[in-house]
Amino acid sequence: MKCLIWCMWGTWALLVLMGSGGTGCLEEERNALLGIKAAFNNSGGFTLSSWRDGNGSNCCGWERVVCDNTTSRVACLYLNNTQNPFVGAWVINASLFLPLEELQVLDLSDNHLSDLNGTLHLKKLKRLYLSHNYLQQIPALYKQTSMEAQNLSSNQVEGPNLEVLDLSGNYLANDALPDIARITSLKALDIDFHELSASKLLEGLCELRNLEELHIIGNGVSGPLPSCSCNMTTLRALDVQYNNFSGAIPSCLLNNLKSLEYIVLSGNAFEGSLSLASLANNSNLEVFHLLNNRYRLEVNTEDPTWFPSFQLKVFSLSNCVLNKDANGVIPSFLKGQYDLRGVQLNHNGMTGNFPNWLLDNNVNLEWLELMSNELSGAFHLPSNLSLANMWLFDVSANIIEGELPSSIGFILPNLQYLNFSNNLLRGGIPPSMGNMQLLHSLDLSNNGFIGEIPETLAKDCTSLNTLKLSHNNLQGQMLPRYSNLRNLRSLYLDNNCFRGDISPGILNSSSLMVLDVSHNFLSGTLPNWIGDIQNLQGLMLVSNLLGGPLPSSICNLKYLDLLDLSNNNLGPNIPHCANFTFMRFLHLSNDTLVGHFPEFLSEASSIVTLDLRQNALSGEIPRWIGSLQNLRVLLLQGNNFEGSIPPNLCLLKDMSILDLSNNNLYGKIPSCLNGLPFGYFELPPFSSDVDWTDYWETRDNRIIFELMYRHPYIKMRMIIYISRLEEVNFITKRRLESYKGNILSLMSGMDLSELLALNLSHNHLIGLIPGTFSNLQNVESLDLSYNSLTGPIPPQLTNLYALSIFSVAHNNLSGKLPDRKNQFGTFEEASYRGNPLLCGPPLTSCDGSNQGPGTPPSFNHTREDDSWREAFWWSFAGSYVVAFVGMVLFLYLNLYYQYMLFNLVRKFIPSFPQ
Ligand SMILES: *[C@@H]1O[C@H](CO)[C@@H](O)[C@H](O)[C@H]1NC(C)=O
Ligand SMILES: *[C@@H]1O[C@H](CO)[C@@H](O)[C@H](O)[C@H]1NC(C)=O
Ligand SMILES: *[C@@H]1O[C@H](CO)[C@@H](O)[C@H](O)[C@H]1NC(C)=O
Ligand SMILES: *[C@@H]1O[C@H](CO)[C@@H](O)[C@H](O)[C@H]1NC(C)=O
Ligand SMILES: *[C@@H]1O[C@H](CO)[C@@H](O)[C@H](O)[C@H]1NC(C)=O
Ligand SMILES: *[C@@H]1O[C@H](CO)[C@@H](O)[C@H](O)[C@H]1NC(C)=O
Ligand SMILES: *[C@@H]1O[C@H](CO)[C@@H](O)[C@H](O)[C@H]1NC(C)=O
Repeated sequence: MKCLIWCMWGTWALLVLMGSGGTGCLEEERNALLGIKAAFNNSGGFTLSSWRDGNGSNCCGWERVVCDNTTSRVACLYLNNTQNPFVGAWVINASLFLPLEELQVLDLSDNHLSDLNGTLHLKKLKRLYLSHNYLQQIPALYKQTSMEAQNLSSNQVEGPNLEVLDLSGNYLANDALPDIARITSLKALDIDFHELSASKLLEGLCELRNLEELHIIGNGVSGPLPSCSCNMTTLRALDVQYNNFSGAIPSCLLNNLKSLEYIVLSGNAFEGSLSLASLANNSNLEVFHLLNNRYRLEVNTEDPTWFPSFQLKVFSLSNCVLNKDANGVIPSFLKGQYDLRGVQLNHNGMTGNFPNWLLDNNVNLEWLELMSNELSGAFHLPSNLSLANMWLFDVSANIIEGELPSSIGFILPNLQYLNFSNNLLRGGIPPSMGNMQLLHSLDLSNNGFIGEIPETLAKDCTSLNTLKLSHNNLQGQMLPRYSNLRNLRSLYLDNNCFRGDISPGILNSSSLMVLDVSHNFLSGTLPNWIGDIQNLQGLMLVSNLLGGPLPSSICNLKYLDLLDLSNNNLGPNIPHCANFTFMRFLHLSNDTLVGHFPEFLSEASSIVTLDLRQNALSGEIPRWIGSLQNLRVLLLQGNNFEGSIPPNLCLLKDMSILDLSNNNLYGKIPSCLNGLPFGYFELPPFSSDVDWTDYWETRDNRIIFELMYRHPYIKMRMIIYISRLEEVNFITKRRLESYKGNILSLMSGMDLSELLALNLSHNHLIGLIPGTFSNLQNVESLDLSYNSLTGPIPPQLTNLYALSIFSVAHNNLSGKLPDRKNQFGTFEEASYRGNPLLCGPPLTSCDGSNQGPGTPPSFNHTREDDSWREAFWWSFAGSYVVAFVGMVLFLYLNLYYQYMLFNLVRKFIPSFPQ
């Protein structure tokens, strides 16, 4: 951060020097620089090209070199990012720098250095930047002679003038800390992203009596904040986010550190309670962050009454129990704040009316997030001013009522992200929103909006990338023909009352990737031009009034990943789409399809879920089904499939839900249908078709998110593994904008890897129930009813502790029922009825008084059976959990950090020591 200032200054100074010609640099310094250049592998020749050994070449004019303008001695050397990126870890000889006696600033960041050999013997060195290398220890620094130390009458021994040390993103271990603690002149220390883990060792840092800035981001440090940190009264910036700090946040920290301007405590595991009254006298405080703590801290802002001496710029506090004893009121000290730029108070259980005063008082507000609270009342905007700096506004998941102010588009003209979803808003969407020309994402879903999509919005909000209007009562045509949303990528209009055809208005959105107009009243057919929306990845038109036939142009959508056209009337045929190779989710249930199992799916090697329920498909289930290695969910219920269950299904090791019920299948149950292994899999990037639930946590070196896939069947929990190096790049302050995106290695762990539900009912299956079913340790429902199975119920099944629904009704099973223990103690007669030869509780006893064929089962249970079947179906839809992952994660995080870090970092730059 501080480096930025210096380098900007440096670049400027450099230009001045180059213009003036300078007075020439010292011969030995020039030679030293040439020696340094030679040490770098410069075969690409991209860097340091102006460093040339010509006659009288003035090294003060060389790139990345800044000389003192009176002595012409080299003062700053910016060798960051100089090494050829294809060279691996290497060691630079520290003695190369020896002649540069006046050097004050040395930047060696981003150079793959694993070490500096020897001592960096630079007496005057003030700033040393070593971030993003492979260092395991700090380099040896110039040591004062005892004579010098005496003159200075201090106990400084190392790097006596060093003020700024940036070691972020290296591989330091705990044993490096004592070395750092000896550099007592330090004013700013950055040790982000290492594997420093023991908070006790941080105690050494308390000895740095001059320290003004301390950054220990992302180290996994556990244990409490060292109590001596309350003694670091010179601190102006303290950033300990994303560690594992536990215990209470010491109130003395807030109380004593009166110079604090910037404090970030987010992403730890603090416990207990905290009163912000401790901050009252920190008159310099500008930035306060306490987000995403692992546990819900109790935070009190009202008791005792206090008045802040500060004017904050940023206040963020999330996932807390805020003001428990005061009904969750919004912190009242905020009423005295007039210069806020950013406020985030998500998930705090806040109640009361929406704080309209926050907008009235803070004309410079840039972002406001009050997501997931219980704020009520109407939303107003100041009528006489425009909040021109506001770019992010998210008040989703509250209980805000009334209509949106009609002038919203004029008062918040520069909004980029607007989220009012999950409230109780009514009325029309204000046409003034057409004035929000920078609007990138608009989410008004889950409210009670009525009327049509305003013409102005569709015509003028040309920056819109994501438009979500799901779950309202909007009517009319889904998107006007003249709409001009040319940057639109995701359009969610589901669960409204749109009528008419699929509007050609979407053709103006040529980048469209996700279209969801499910649960409306669209009619007509799927137009032929749908194949022109080349980038379409998700197309969801569930439950409309669409008729067939499906245009064959749909096969041109070669990136299609999710196609859900269920509950329409699109049959009888599916076009033969040979190129659906990226397709992962294909759902065509209840679509009046006839014919055989679609042959082209044999090429759809990416398929994960296939839902063809409730059609009239017939013939055999093809053997090649076993080649769809990614298949996890196969739903074929309610067709006319016949023949046997292909044993090739056993090849599908990741299968987690299989429903073959209500077909005409017969033959034996393949005995392989037993426990399935835990699987890891990586999926190709998929767009933004994911609803993020608000929950996330960090644990070990993982970030765990819960997501809700847009599709109702698919809920996901995602585990992201971030290795250390990647973390560095992704959070790095200096590279926020240049992030390239291939750095995170995203992996997902399946949360429920084993079969959860197995439904083979209503077929003609014969033979024994495989004893191996007892391996289905996670199975929650097992339905084998209405088949012709014979033999006993394997007693081992009582080991299925997760089983809550079980039926073998209406088979020809015989023998003694499993003991009424574990889950089997809960299954009643209905689970077994229709098997005259079964006996034992809860049926009749086995001692001779077996039920004859004349006694029940009566078949008078159809209604009950139906509702039971429905319940079964629901229970398994509910527990249907699969884990997926996509690049969307990266996008989200990037955004998250963009506003969270970038703004704050930017705010903080001016206050770094010069
Ligand atoms: C070196 O770092 C400065 C900021 O400290 C930056 O402005 C400059 O672009 C960097 N140079 C390279 C080549 O990365
Ligand atoms: C050169 O030095 C003078 C006096 O020390 C100072 O005022 C001036 O800002 C310096 N110029 C540059 C470019 O550093
Ligand atoms: C470090 O420098 C010494 C003497 O200059 C040399 O002998 C040694 O090989 C160097 N070590 C490495 C790892 O370069
Ligand atoms: C804080 O400093 C005071 C006086 O300088 C000292 O007595 C006390 O022990 C220190 N506390 C800790 C926890 O280091
Ligand atoms: C099947 O789709 C029709 C509309 O085509 C709908 O009315 C019906 O409820 C759907 N059936 C099921 C079981 O979803
Ligand atoms: C499938 O896609 C490939 C390349 O995109 C193309 O060459 C081929 O003709 C397509 N096949 C069909 C049947 O559309
Ligand atoms: C069906 O059950 C109901 C109530 O349990 C009973 O009144 C009725 O007589 C039964 N019908 C047959 C056909 O068994």
